[in-house]
This record gives sequence, C-alpha cells and structure tokens, in this order.
Amino acid sequence: MRETAYRIALLPGDGTGPEVIRAGRRVLDALSDGAVAPWTLEEYPAGALYYRDHGTEWAPGAEQAARSADAILLGAVGWPGVSLPNGDIAGAGLIFGLRFGLDLYANVRPCRLYPGVRHRVSGQWKEVWTPENVDFVIVRENTEGLYTPIRGALSRGGGTEVAIDTRVITRKGAERVIRYAFDLSRGRGRGAPEDHRRRVTCVDKANVLRGCQFFREVFEEVGAQYPDIEREYAYVDAFTQWMVRNPEHYDVVVTTNMFGDIVTDLAAVLQGGMGFAAGGNIGVEHAMFEPVHGSSPKHAGKNEINPFATFSAIEMLLRWLGERHTDPRMTAHANRVESAIAQVLASGSARTYDQGGTATTSDAGDRVAEAIRSGGRT
Ligand code: IPM
Ligand code: MN
Repeated sequence: MRETAYRIALLPGDGTGPEVIRAGRRVLDALSDGAVAPWTLEEYPAGALYYRDHGTEWAPGAEQAARSADAILLGAVGWPGVSLPNGDIAGAGLIFGLRFGLDLYANVRPCRLYPGVRHRVSGQWKEVWTPENVDFVIVRENTEGLYTPIRGALSRGGGTEVAIDTRVITRKGAERVIRYAFDLSRGRGRGAPEDHRRRVTCVDKANVLRGCQFFREVFEEVGAQYPDIEREYAYVDAFTQWMVRNPEHYDVVVTTNMFGDIVTDLAAVLQGGMGFAAGGNIGVEHAMFEPVHGSSPKHAGKNEINPFATFSAIEMLLRWLGERHTDPRMTAHANRVESAIAQVLASGSARTYDQGGTATTSDAGDRVAEAIRSGGRT
C-alpha cells in the first residue's frame, strides 16, 4: 500500500469526452466525499480540437504528466475534418501515443448487461439478451497487428497507386496478451454463465492467415500452463454469430488487434449499447481507461451522452490501482462504484436518450454520486 496519493491524469479530449469526464469527476469526488482521497486528479487539455486551435495535440507538459501518472482516464479523441499532416486522425498522439508509447498491450473490454439496462434491435426495445447470460470479457491485443505503423503507400505521377498495411504478430505480443487472458479467467473465477466453466476462447482466422496460425500456436503453448481453464478456438466470422446467439458460452475471449476492435463494438450491443462499453488499456506499469464510444460529434455539447461507460472505466481504473499496488482501499472504492452503478441502473432513475429516457449526462453522474454517498441505501 502506498503512502503518497496516486496521480490520476484526466484527458477529457474531444466532443463528448469532456462531458463524460465531468460526470466521472462527480463520481470520483463522491468517493472521497470531502475527506482527503488517496488520489489526486490532474486534468490536461489535449486532442484533435486542441490541435486545431494550437497546432499541437498536447498542451505544454501534458504528455509527460500523463505518461508519468499512476493511471490515466481518457474521455475521447477525434473530430471530423481535423487530421495530422501525415493523414492520421488528430488525437492519434493520445490514443496510440499512449497505447504504444506506454506499451499498454492488453485492451480489456468487459461485456456485461446490468439489470435494468435495455437494448434495441431493429429500432425496438427487445429482451434478446438477459443479465444472466451476458457476462464475459474480450481481451484485444493492443500494440501490434494491423495497428502497427509498418505501412506505406506508393505514389506515382501524383496519385496513390498502392497502399499497404502489414499485420505484425510477434511471439512477445501474442504471449503476453494470451497470458493476460488466462490470468483474467482465473481471477474472475466464475467462468461462463452457461456452465460456470473457466474458458478462454481464441478468436482468429487461422484457416487463412499465417499470423493467426502463429497466434493459435502461442495460445496452445500458454494455455497448456493453465490446466484448470478450458481452451477453445473460434474463427472470427463464426464467432460473431455465436457471440450474439449464445453469449452465455463465453468467459474470456482473446484476439488480435483489429478483430478485437470490430467484435467489441458488436459486443457493446449485447450490453445495452456503446454507452455502456468501457475498456482498459493495460500494461505492466501503466494503464489507461476509457469509454469506448469515442467523441460522438453528433451528441457533443448537448449534455445527453450516456456516461455509464465512463463510470465503469473509473471502476476498472480503481480496481487496477488496487491490484497493482496491493491496496485494498482502492479495491473497496472500485466496489463502491460498481454497486452504485448497479443500483442506479436497476432503479432506472438515470436513463439517458439511448435508453429511451430523458436523463442528462450530469443527472446520471449525480445519481451515481448520490448512490455512492448513501452507501447503497436509497
Ligand atoms: C477503439 C477505437 C480506436 C481504435 C480508434 C478511435 C482509433 O475505435 O478504441 O476501439 O480503432 O482502436
Ligand atoms: Mn473501436
């Protein structure tokens, strides 16, 4: 346990990012409730709009401060029409700069449907999935694959003729993320909702791609060291339909970077929408947590975006600090956030527009903050 306060860097970023971070601050403030918190919050301007206005993605000193913080909470980055001279989205220096620069190799995206959360299919509220059958985690490799900067374009006579993105799978990259997935399954302990068996599913395209065959080989090697956990394989195309039809079968899923990007957005539908999807970018010494929804320009500035993904990201951040520093205080704070989220969602008292309600982003923050202050009593 640490004597000094944890430094938590807040990077609100663009669009709806600042709105969800503002609501998130209310949740964090409620945890300390006037007393001295075991953390300090440092907020830094950065992102695409900062770049548009200042010509750099980070405010002076912000990048260094974020990189040296104990944990980072990111709102969202990106804005239509704002890109870097090399064609990358402005804000890439935050999201990729930190993922790659801090070696945050595991992108951990829980998919859990809370009681009281509704989901829409074909524009209508349906009960296709239930809280009892949606509770798994997708672990996406986060530092290589199609996202590594081994790429290029060939221009001849003023026009682009060829563009190439090379997918890189390394033993180191595969091994550590696969190990993370097996450890996570062990740590969760409860297994898949269907049969309570601990199971790690390797999602790939090993019937076609050499890199995926290699990823499977490494999966087999690492998985053999976890005899208590079932090993399973699924081709990514087939996986998408199984995940939708039988989410209860899954405990932990591990996959390469781009596949993970795609399947986690689909998984968000099962948990009520992108407004509930949180992710942790986790390395050895550093970690960054974020709602997965992005800057959502359409909803920006309206105080209407669903902030629950950010609350779940905060819960993950506190839990990670608790584990990393063996600090039960932080784990207790994470548990308080988790119960408050569950309580408010079950009561239906903070339904934002995406849930068919009228609650604002700040209302949702207030409800969860109140639930924290009252310690589970309503
Ligand atoms: C995500 C996002 C990012 C990604 C974008 C914003 C670059 O879609 O975190 O899933 O592709 O990783
Ligand atoms: Mn994505």
